Amino acid sequence: PHKGEETLRSPICCVMGHVDTGKTKLLDYIRGTHVQEGEARGITQQIGATFFPVENIRDRTKELKADARLNVPGLLVIDTPGHESFTNLRSHGSGLCDIAVLVVNIMHGLEPQTIESLNLLRKRNTEFIVALNKIDRLYGWKTQPNAPIRKALKQQSKDVQNEFDRRLIEVITQLKEQGLNTELYYKNKDMGETFNIVPTSAISGEGIPDLLLLLIQWSQKTMVEKLTFRNVVQCTVLEVKVTKGHGTTIDVVLVNGVLHEGDQIVFCSLQGPIVTTIRALLTPHPMQELRVKGTYLHHKAIKAAQGIKITGQGLEHAIAGTSLYVVRRDDDLEEVKESAMQDMKSVTSRIDRSGEGVGTPVCVLQKDFTDIGRIASIRFNEKAVDHAKKGQKVTIKIVGTNPEEQQKMHGRHFDNDDQLVSHITRRSIDVLKAYYRDDLSMEDWKLVLKLKTLF
Ligand code: GTP
Ligand code: NA
Ligand code: MG
Repeated sequence: PHKGEETLRSPICCVMGHVDTGKTKLLDYIRGTHVQEGEARGITQQIGATFFPVENIRDRTKELKADARLNVPGLLVIDTPGHESFTNLRSHGSGLCDIAVLVVNIMHGLEPQTIESLNLLRKRNTEFIVALNKIDRLYGWKTQPNAPIRKALKQQSKDVQNEFDRRLIEVITQLKEQGLNTELYYKNKDMGETFNIVPTSAISGEGIPDLLLLLIQWSQKTMVEKLTFRNVVQCTVLEVKVTKGHGTTIDVVLVNGVLHEGDQIVFCSLQGPIVTTIRALLTPHPMQELRVKGTYLHHKAIKAAQGIKITGQGLEHAIAGTSLYVVRRDDDLEEVKESAMQDMKSVTSRIDRSGEGVGTPVCVLQKDFTDIGRIASIRFNEKAVDHAKKGQKVTIKIVGTNPEEQQKMHGRHFDNDDQLVSHITRRSIDVLKAYYRDDLSMEDWKLVLKLKTLF
C-alpha cells in the first residue's frame, strides 16, 4: 500500500441531478448491473449506496493513467432521486457527501432539479463535477465502449464534434447564468475556481474512466483533512425497512469510525431514545447497490465509509435522516441518549408547514405520481400543527390520486378533492395503512401513526 492508504477513508460521492438525466444508469454501467430497469417507471425513489473498491477503479481507469496514485480504499457512491417530490432525499444525500456528481443531460441542458441540486451543493460548499451525460445521443455518434472521452471525441465526424461543442457551450453558458464557472476538465487550467465538466455516456461508457479518475484524484487532492480516518463513529440512517429473513433493518451510511457486531447503539424516535444492540452488520457485495434485494455479506466489523444494513431489535422505531450513536465503554449512556434526541429537532423541522388552506387543519399526504403509491411528502398547515399539539382532529388529505387509483383504493370515484377528503376522514386510518403499508417510509409512518391517535 502507498503511504496514506491506511489513514484515508473512502470519499462519499453523491450523484444528483434532474429526473432521468441518467444518474442510476451511470452507476449501472460502472457496476455492470441493471438496477435502473428494476425501478417502478424507471424512477429512483430512495437513496442508494454502492461501494467501489479502489482496485476496481484502478482497473477501470488504467487506459487513462496507468500510474495514477489512488490512496483511498475506494469510493462510496450515493444515488439520489431526481424527481421533484424528493427534495428531502436530495438534501439528505448532499448533506452526507464529500464530493458530488451533478448529472446534466447534454440534450436538455439545465433543468429545474439541476438548479435545485446545484444550490444544495453550493449551500454546503461541496465540491462537485458536472457529468454531461447522454453524449451517445448526439446524432451520428460512434460508440466506443468505456473509452476515455478525448479518445472517443477524436473518432467522431466533424458534424458530431460541432454539435458537441455547440451543446457544451450552451450548458457552460447556462451554468454561468447560475453564477458558476465551468470548463471541460482537460481544458480546465484553474480547477480551484472553475468546476470541471466530464462528458459521459451511461449506455456505451465513454468518459466514465475520466469521471472515476477525476473523482478520486480531486478528492485526494483537496480533502485530505476531511478524508482522514477518524475513530469517532459518524453514521446516519438512510432507510428503515423490513428485509426478508432479518425483520426490520436499517440501511445506514457509515461516514467515519468503525462499527462492530454487538455494539450498543442509540438513536432517536418518537418514543424517545432507543438503546439496542447491533445483531448483524450486512453489506451487499462490492459494486452492488444496498437498496436492491440480494445476498449480503456478514461482517464482524466495518470501517468507514460504507453503506451498511444493520439488523437488531427495536430498529422499526428509527427515523430516516437521523444519526446513530455508539456507546463505548467510557461513555455515559444518558449523555449519548441526549445527543441522539437532539436529532428529533431536525425531524420536526422537516415537517413542512406550508400546506395549503389556513381555515381547516389539514395534513396533506402527497403521493408521488408512480403506481406504487409511495407517500412523497407530508405537509401540515399551521392550524393542523396547533390542533395536533392540542390532540384535536386533523383532516388527512391525499393528493395526486387519479380516478383509476381512487377506484382501486376507495371502491368509488370522487368528483373533486373535497369529496375525497370527507370520505377519507370518515374512514379509519387503518384502511389507509392497508393501502400504503409497503411503500410508506418508516418516517412517514411515524407521522401518520402519530396522527392516528388523534382520530
Ligand atoms: P431518476 O433517478 O428517476 O431521477 O433518473 P436517473 O437520473 O437515475 O436516470 P435513469 O438512470 O433512470 O435514466 C433515465 C433514462 O435515460 C433511461 O431510459 C436510461 O436508459 C436513459 N439513459 C440514461 N443515461 C443515458 C445515456 O448516457 N445515453 C442514453 N442514450 N440514454 C441514457
Ligand atoms: Na429515471
Ligand atoms: Mg435514478
